Formats: sequence, C-alpha cells, structure tokens
Amino acid sequence: MAKKQNSDTHFFNSFSLALGVLVFIAIGLFVLARLIGSAAQTRNVESEPMRLKTVQANIEPVAHVAIAGRDNAALAKLEAPAQGAAAADLPANGEAAYQKICAACHAAGVAGAPKIGDRADWGPRIAQGKDTLYKHAIGGYQGGKGIMPAKGGTTWPDDLIRAAVDHMVALNK
Ligand code: HEC
Repeated sequence: MAKKQNSDTHFFNSFSLALGVLVFIAIGLFVLARLIGSAAQTRNVESEPMRLKTVQANIEPVAHVAIAGRDNAALAKLEAPAQGAAAADLPANGEAAYQKICAACHAAGVAGAPKIGDRADWGPRIAQGKDTLYKHAIGGYQGGKGIMPAKGGTTWPDDLIRAAVDHMVALNK
C-alpha cells in the first residue's frame, strides 16, 4: 500500500513537471512568433500604398474658408478639380503618376519591389523589353520577389501606366 502511494506521487510529480515544461515551451513559441511577426508584418501593413492614401484622405482639412480681404487664390485651385473629380484625379504624365503611386513601393524597394537606382535589379527586367514591362505593370506580376499589383492598384488608363513605366526605366538607365 505504501509502495503504491509512493509510485502515484512519483507519477504525478513527473507528469506536472512535463506539463509545466510544455506550457513554458508553448508560451515561448508564442512570444517568438509575435517578435518575428511584428518586425515584418507591421512594416508591410503600414507602408501599404492604399492605406497611406486613406491616411492622407483622413488628415485632409475638413473645410477651406475664404476670408474677405485676403488673398484666396489658393482656394480657387482647390475648388477647380471638384468639377471633374475623376478626370482631375489623374496625374498629368508618367512622372506624376510615378510620384503619386508607384514611388510608394519602388522608391525604397518596399516588399521586394525593384528599387529605383538599383541597376542590378532593373538591368535584367529592362532587358526583357518594354512590351513585357508594360504587360507586367498593367496586368500585375509575380516574379518571385514580391507582388506587383495590376496597375499598381490604380484604375488609371493603360497609357498612363505605360508612361509611368517609361519614366521608371529612364530613371534606371
Ligand atoms: C504595392 C507595391 C507596388 C506598387 C504600388 C507598384 N509596384 Fe511595381 N512592382 C512591385 C513589386 C513587388 C515588383 C517585383 C515583382 C517581382 O519581380 O516578383 C514590381 C515590379 C515592377 C516592374 C517590373 C516588372 C518585371 O517584368 O520585372 C515594373 C515595370 C513595375 N513594377 C511598374 C510599376 C508601376 C508603373 C507602378 C505604378 C503605376 C508600380 N509598379 C507600382 C510592387 C509595386
């Protein structure tokens, strides 16, 4: 009887110890996953161009007030695009288009995007020929480095995207 009790106690002791160790490992893995995730995940989420655009829209002043007796010329400029909002939203040329959206990823090489000025990355891409670059920029492309969203996530006309590609290629010649 005494012997049986003894082996039960022994069993419970080792069992609790094993449980404790497993719980500890589980917590350790959870903390490790969070550490790894926060470094990569948060950065990509924060620099997402569509999110940046929403942030910009959110911090835009709610109203612009004209004041009698002051120079309100700046207001006229703000009001003008309101008439043809969709058309006025379009950048005027390839360079403006690049600055507005493409640069969000390509200026700093976010998320595997070939960085402007990185000739080693751009060389083989440019060598594919402009038609391929146009096709990849307009239709989207996944070449193993990252995801190039179709038209950079915009709904701009194909011509404007081609002009933006031309601008980017010129920057990397
Ligand atoms: C969300 C980030 C992002 C935005 C915005 C973006 N790109 Fe890209 N782009 C990428 C990534 C990532 C690649 C690399 C894909 C790969 O090689 O796996 C890429 C590749 C390219 C390439 C090379 C394709 C090839 O064949 O190698 C061109 C050209 C290009 N982008 C043009 C543009 C243009 C023009 C715009 C703006 C209209 C734009 N990109 C906006 C992420 C972006």
